[in-house]
Amino acid sequence: MNVRHVAIIMDGNGRWAKAQGKVRTEGHFKGVEVLHDIAIAANDLGIEVLTLYAFSTENWKRSADEVGYLMKLPAYFFSRFLKELMEKNIRITMIGEMEQIPIDTQKVLQSAIDQTKNNTGMVLNFAMNYGSQREIVLGIRKYTEEVLSKKRENNLEVGEFDQYLMTSEFPPLDLMIRTSGECRISNFLLWQLAYSELEFVDIPWPEFTKETLATCLEQFKKRDRRFGGVKS
Ligand code: FPP
Repeated sequence: MNVRHVAIIMDGNGRWAKAQGKVRTEGHFKGVEVLHDIAIAANDLGIEVLTLYAFSTENWKRSADEVGYLMKLPAYFFSRFLKELMEKNIRITMIGEMEQIPIDTQKVLQSAIDQTKNNTGMVLNFAMNYGSQREIVLGIRKYTEEVLSKKRENNLEVGEFDQYLMTSEFPPLDLMIRTSGECRISNFLLWQLAYSELEFVDIPWPEFTKETLATCLEQFKKRDRRFGGVKS
């Protein structure tokens, strides 16, 4: 069974840092390194799309210092790893809303997206300023505009709604992994998760390794995916 699209909620950076006697941001710093290692491992494993929850629409509630720090991470990440991502033919994409993101971070993200746009290997898709409920509402608005402007009939079917979402260009989501033991979805890919397999692992993101990823994929392969049907 092929795994085409994997999504990860990279949780537990703050708790990991605290447990080490460090400040929360050091957890995020370590998290960037892990993000790089897992992106490379996922690419080597032939995953087509890796979607990572980097900043949610709810994360703005954190302290200004922490938000400021998180917003600087893309610049750090791409200055360190963009060359390698290019060599590996990885394409950077983003889901979420650019507008509220600080302008310098927008420029960094857009530049990585533009520079890698012709790459044909794995898609490394960052969910930044992303919230799934908002994504669905924006999709409904887009659909409604098409109906009101008579571009289409008001006859939307379930299978068509994907095209109104931010993930419209990607294959269906096969597997969602959340680290650090929390068993929640936290407003991540709600529509896309309808028939995905879920893996909740007990270790914090800074301790997640390519071996952990391989174990999650093994678990996935053992699952009997019936999509609501009966096994043939
Ligand atoms: C959740 O841990 C993690 C985040 C909110 C940020 C995750 C972001 C990265 C790992 C790097 C992003 C990098 C780029 C290049 C966009 P938490 O702080 O909620 O941990 P806690 O639950 O232990 O407090």
